[in-house]
Amino acid sequence: MNATSFPAYRPRRLRQLPVLRRMVAETQLGAHQLVLPYFARPGKKQRRAISAMPGVFQLSVDELLKDATAAHAAGVPAVLIFGIPDTKDEKATGAYASNGIVQQAVRALKKELPGLLVITDVCLCEYMSHGHCGLVHRAAGKVLNDPTLKLLARTAVSHAEAGADVIAPSDMMDGRVRAIRTALDAAGFQDAPILAYAAKYASAFYGPFREAAESAPQFGDRRSYQMNPANAEEALREVALDIAEGADMVMVKPALAYLDILHRVKATFGYPTAAYAVSAEYSMIKAAAAKGWIDERAMTLESLLGMRRAGADIIITYSAKEVCDWLKG
Ligand code: PBG
Repeated sequence: MNATSFPAYRPRRLRQLPVLRRMVAETQLGAHQLVLPYFARPGKKQRRAISAMPGVFQLSVDELLKDATAAHAAGVPAVLIFGIPDTKDEKATGAYASNGIVQQAVRALKKELPGLLVITDVCLCEYMSHGHCGLVHRAAGKVLNDPTLKLLARTAVSHAEAGADVIAPSDMMDGRVRAIRTALDAAGFQDAPILAYAAKYASAFYGPFREAAESAPQFGDRRSYQMNPANAEEALREVALDIAEGADMVMVKPALAYLDILHRVKATFGYPTAAYAVSAEYSMIKAAAAKGWIDERAMTLESLLGMRRAGADIIITYSAKEVCDWLKG
């Protein structure tokens, strides 16, 4: 295209009529692409506010069911379940207990809302007394990779047994997708898809989540297993590895500060790709909106549209229910 040729290309022509603007829009954001995260906790009638995430709660299973019923009715097609167990230990027993908190929530959801897609987060940090995503060798101050794989695989199988539709490992141990795929297949869950948190960065944007999931590491940080925010080429290698090990869908996390990664992952592999708009992405908008500094609805929709434009097929967002309502008009 030669912009100086005649007749002149005048981009504004297509921006004059709302109906035409919509018709030539290159990207759409739809309710069918959204996933709403939940934090399940033990007990009954529990609804605990998370101070850094207004509008998000730790919910007992009965309350979670009520909330998810309303969200599903509003158009939310899928949920992602995290668990806060009664007790934590050094082996993350609560992660793979057959009546663990996630397993209970999944059973209840699949019974009451069979049409709702239930994705479970597979990680150990919420269940470990030290808050790390894997087994720890305390004297060496190390998170152990290979011994952790067995526990992750056990957790995944227990989620599938409870009825989870999709298994989403977020721990960032090397080899976990293969370990989980092998274990799921051996247990008869060949058809259970894996959504791998493939490019997951060691990010300050997870701060509010760690309050929500009570999973802050008690010592050190997660930089020996989560990715360095400086790296993009490495993200492609991580994604390639997860696909080779059997991932059916891949994720980039966080979303907004990593749209370049999202774009490259989608362009390179063409796999179904998810973006996780993480806790601080939500909190920043909520906080500024509470001050009256920004338009919450417009900023949320614009951010999520940007993730779609960058290549996301699936968007995990704490705003999923509001977004469904907003998309209706
Ligand atoms: C567990 C996990 C985390 C998030 C999702 N799964 C926290 C972390 O890695 O520290 C963060 C999600 C969010 O911030 O919304 N490993």
